[in-house]
Amino acid sequence: MKSNKIPISTEGLLQWKSWGDRDPLGDVLQRALQRPRIFKNRDVMRSDYVPDRLPHRDEHIRRLGEILAPALSLSRPSNVFVYGKTGTGKTAVIRYVFKRFGEAAGKEDLPLAFAYVNCRISGTEYKVLSELCEAIGVRVPFTGLSKAEVYNRLRRGLGEKGLLLVACFDEVDALVKSYGDDLLYDLTRINEGMEGGGLSIVGTSNDLHFKDYLDPRVLSSLSEEELVFHPYTATELIDILGERATLAFREGAVPQNVINLCAALAAAEHGDARRAIDLLRVAAEVAERSGEAVVEERHVRVAQSIIERGRIFEALSTLPLHSKLLLTSLLLLAKNGVNDPISGVIYQTYREVCGLIGVEPLTDRRVSTLISELDMLGVVKSDIVNMGRRGRTRKIMLLTPPGEVEEVVENDEVLSSILNYTPSITKNKMKNP
Ligand SMILES: Nc1ncnc2c1ncn2[C@@H]1O[C@H](COP(=O)(O)OP(=O)(O)OP(=O)(O)O)[C@@H](O)[C@H]1O
Ligand SMILES: [Mg+2]
Repeated sequence: MKSNKIPISTEGLLQWKSWGDRDPLGDVLQRALQRPRIFKNRDVMRSDYVPDRLPHRDEHIRRLGEILAPALSLSRPSNVFVYGKTGTGKTAVIRYVFKRFGEAAGKEDLPLAFAYVNCRISGTEYKVLSELCEAIGVRVPFTGLSKAEVYNRLRRGLGEKGLLLVACFDEVDALVKSYGDDLLYDLTRINEGMEGGGLSIVGTSNDLHFKDYLDPRVLSSLSEEELVFHPYTATELIDILGERATLAFREGAVPQNVINLCAALAAAEHGDARRAIDLLRVAAEVAERSGEAVVEERHVRVAQSIIERGRIFEALSTLPLHSKLLLTSLLLLAKNGVNDPISGVIYQTYREVCGLIGVEPLTDRRVSTLISELDMLGVVKSDIVNMGRRGRTRKIMLLTPPGEVEEVVENDEVLSSILNYTPSITKNKMKNP
């Protein structure tokens, strides 16, 4: 009988006969079979890991704890609004406080529930409401009910069970930007006329202008209390990374200078702990992939460029279609030898490209606005140039490396089909005057 067992002797795997020396998996397998030399616990560096200790957030933890404390004596806590830039620990602090409160409530067997909903991930009002229902044990089908019905079931559930629900609406701006603030309005009114049980809301946003989107009535009831999270300083980030590194890496694998560099780079942007942790994780992965046992500063530099590339890709991939078409036009021109074209040349190419994919082109003026927007985003740079008797025009330079724009175009279902198109202007050899 044939054995299904994979031979686990390294030698056997490395000298796979049919490939001879060219075995493409040889060293991959060898490294995978080796004992991990850098990571001790990879999960600790994952973005959804909730640490047991949050250095430099004692104040915030205590403050949120004080605001929510009445829940433990079953009176409804004030709603809280939590602001702060990305990576300042809002989610981590709330999840930590909810966890500790949940444990305390569980021990005392209190009719108290905690729900954590990420509004950006949940996506729809229906989903947000059904997650709240689920948190209090009220069953709701995936679809099929009206929003009003799910809301009523939630209200009835809270009333009948006499349950106090403390719900975090993380990244609540995502919900409001898509649907307006009606649901928040209704939820802040859900306690009216309810005896026993009720709902308290902890909302978060990293958009400091978010308040402008809210109806003043919603804003005032949602932010009965406010908590602001400031960016971390480099020294604070060093402590945060240090704690994380002790759990994640083998002793001696990540020296202090590497931690300091990650902290300094993240602090130079805006004190984003997520950025600092990502830098360290990617640097460790880079070192690991090249078979080294110690992470060095050069690995952090490589990590920085990998992360930067990822960010550019993400930013460009989420641009609106016509901005992407303009970038594609710039790319096609560059690939055919026309760098820094004037606006007339881009516009002509853009129209051709629109024709190829069957999209109605925007007007000259609208395109001009889109170019200014791309300029503001730092994707292109546009300069006024004097054309002598022919007046003035704009010259547009691609600031993003063409290879990175090409990667986005290649990965776009619609745009990838025109990647090999040659703009007519480059065929006529007119190019830039
Ligand atoms: N004080 C801290 N100690 C340890 N880890 C922290 C601390 N602050 C943040 N982190 C970690 O940094 C990462 C980002 O933090 P978090 O997700 O809480 O940021 P946020 O303020 O919610 O950002 P966003 O606005 O983008 O949602 C997480 O992995 C979190 O565990
Ligand atoms: Mg968050």
